[in-house]
Amino acid sequence: MPKRLGVTVSRQIMDSQRLHPEATGDLSGLLNELIVAAKIISAEVNMAGLADILGQSGKTNVQGEAVQKLDDFANATIKRRMEQCGYICIMASEEEDGIIPVLDGYEGKYTLAFDPLDGSSNIDVNVSIGTIFSVHRKITVDVKGTEADLLQKGSQQVAAGYIIYGSSTMLVYTTGVGEGVHGFTLDPSVGEFFLSHPDIRTPDRSKYYSINEAYTNYWYDSTRNYIEYIKTVDKESGRPYSLRYIGSLVADFHRNLISGGIFLYPRDKKNTDKPEGKLRLLYEAAPMAMIVREAGGLAITDDGGDILDIKPTSLHQRVPLIIGSSKDVELAKRFFTS
Ligand code: AHG
Ligand code: MN
Ligand code: MN
Repeated sequence: MPKRLGVTVSRQIMDSQRLHPEATGDLSGLLNELIVAAKIISAEVNMAGLADILGQSGKTNVQGEAVQKLDDFANATIKRRMEQCGYICIMASEEEDGIIPVLDGYEGKYTLAFDPLDGSSNIDVNVSIGTIFSVHRKITVDVKGTEADLLQKGSQQVAAGYIIYGSSTMLVYTTGVGEGVHGFTLDPSVGEFFLSHPDIRTPDRSKYYSINEAYTNYWYDSTRNYIEYIKTVDKESGRPYSLRYIGSLVADFHRNLISGGIFLYPRDKKNTDKPEGKLRLLYEAAPMAMIVREAGGLAITDDGGDILDIKPTSLHQRVPLIIGSSKDVELAKRFFTS
């Protein structure tokens, strides 16, 4: 099939909708509204240094973390746009304690969970950050969505994606099994996302490993043993891998998705208040797990379970995450479950 040049994301969304005669266009509408929010956030991120929008907002979020001004801006931008889009019935955000309702009369059939700005510690130092989103179908009869509509397994997602605000702004998303993973790059001069990475497949072997090695002395033996293994010199098996750790999940994940890599944020003894590790299931691990599975990779917890099989019990539930190239995640699983 000839490479389709200049395909806009709106065209791609419509084309994929056409493949589903039963589609009402609501998911397409939802994605298009999210894309408008992403463009607004991207413009702000790229101007952050000048627009006095750097630094801390003085607030603390439900995670107990200092909320950066850009976190706040991104959260408000997505909430304001999506509460009146008419395609969703309820939202959850990393920056909000509880569920976020939509405007009366604007209830739709989907739910939205999002991390408005991932990698906040990198905002003020011009390192890539991103927005992560996860979409489910409403399952309760209430017109107004409930928490139960949000607390669904990752395998039930109807769409998952992220926008990375880096050297360029890119949107990467999938709308489910068999739909593929597609990457679009924003041309800021025309304000359009153009297809730049059609049908992304992640290499089945890594070149990179991503983990915060500062926590080495807090690791459980399974983590230590696995990391020791991939750092051992053995040209035959392509070891040692190169360490790449940016501290923004979106940026580390995106590099590994394209080039091959394994990202680990396992349980450790450092955060006794976060025995399940730091990353959140609903709007970090589950959407990334859907994307990586659709691109040929894997995502597990550090007891070997599939991230997509976990039924969430709370909005901000944390989960250990091992995600990336299939052969590497399978090998890591042997270290973590032996
Ligand atoms: P957020 O900024 O949305 O809170 O997410 C930050 C997360 C994730 O992006 C990254 O992988 C991880 O925090 C880094 O944590 P450490 O600084 O503990 O390595
Ligand atoms: Mn995050
Ligand atoms: Mn965040």
